[in-house]
Amino acid sequence: MMRFPKPNNIVAEKYVAGMSLFKSKLAKIKLSANESALGPSPKAKKQYLEVSKNFARYPDSDGTFLRKTLANKFKIDKNRIILGSGSDQIFELICKSFLKKGDEVIVPKFSFIIYRIYSRMNGAKVIYAKENNFTISIKDILKKVTRKTKIVFIANPNNPTGTYISKKELLFLRKKLRSNILLVVDDAYFEYVKQKDYFSGLKTFTNFKNVVMTRTFSKIYGLAGLRVGWGYGSKEIISALNKIKPPFNVSRPALFAASAAVKDSSWLNKEIKHVNKWSKKMYSEFKKMRIETNKSFTNFLLVKFDKVKINSTKVFRLLAKSGILVRKMDVYGIKNSLRITIGTTSENITLIKKMRKILNVR
Ligand SMILES: Cc1ncc(COP(=O)(O)O)c(C=O)c1O
Repeated sequence: MMRFPKPNNIVAEKYVAGMSLFKSKLAKIKLSANESALGPSPKAKKQYLEVSKNFARYPDSDGTFLRKTLANKFKIDKNRIILGSGSDQIFELICKSFLKKGDEVIVPKFSFIIYRIYSRMNGAKVIYAKENNFTISIKDILKKVTRKTKIVFIANPNNPTGTYISKKELLFLRKKLRSNILLVVDDAYFEYVKQKDYFSGLKTFTNFKNVVMTRTFSKIYGLAGLRVGWGYGSKEIISALNKIKPPFNVSRPALFAASAAVKDSSWLNKEIKHVNKWSKKMYSEFKKMRIETNKSFTNFLLVKFDKVKINSTKVFRLLAKSGILVRKMDVYGIKNSLRITIGTTSENITLIKKMRKILNVR
């Protein structure tokens, strides 16, 4: 009998991107992946176009230029920055580097799916901590710690809930966690939060030896299609991750576009202003329609349809039919809800109009 090569049996769900759920391919308005409303800085676009004229040569494998730009901007050590093909890749490297079979990883139940996927791929058991009113519960995370706990992942502010926890709570969590448990703080949406008691992971834990912070160019910077993200941590941790980082993992045009984007803070502020204005507007519009939602501190809203007569699946379908793609929340285990990214002014107006029609509200 002929025998064939057999892959390992890796137990992990596949990440289902929002778009692949959308069969009709007619989405004119994509409000499903929390990408920037205004898109990339024109300066980043210009760099991208310029650099892409020449792709016969490999990129700088260590992305030194971009790391220097980031180090200048955030006043941090360039040698403790690692670049990834999206922050996704940083999570992957962390899991590969730290996990083995039998380890446990704690994630909030309503948290970014990628953490649990890479944890499982690397043999760990994923333990879920409960939220408190759609906000991360430090208390419940600490309750779930066992001898086997190796990593705790949190995003702050969190996807898909849009809520945040304070600097005080972050520090309390770190203090109470055993020192050999790695805390990963995902800063993907930190730029949008203007609350006084909020501090990004990077700012809170700059010099902690058992915390890794991650950031991305996919959200506020509008470069999701280029795949750039980064991680920051102690020399020891970053050197462990660098050992297994694939070479040339960020392309040349991506490196240069990202550098230009970091330098263009006025573009960034424009996006923040736009999103924060619309976040308030959408909140009150949804409230008028009796759609429940948290006050979001990010560029998306988690909306619940319990108080209206129509369920979230139906709303999703009707929106999709009219060319608006939002995100279903079944995979996150949040019932009867959708996540809606804040788009451009005209996209938001279209969404609100359509939603009113669906719910029969005038
Ligand atoms: C909390 C969070 N972290 C990270 C990412 C992924 O970012 P990247 O595109 O850098 O892999 C997302 C994207 O949805 C996210 O919501």
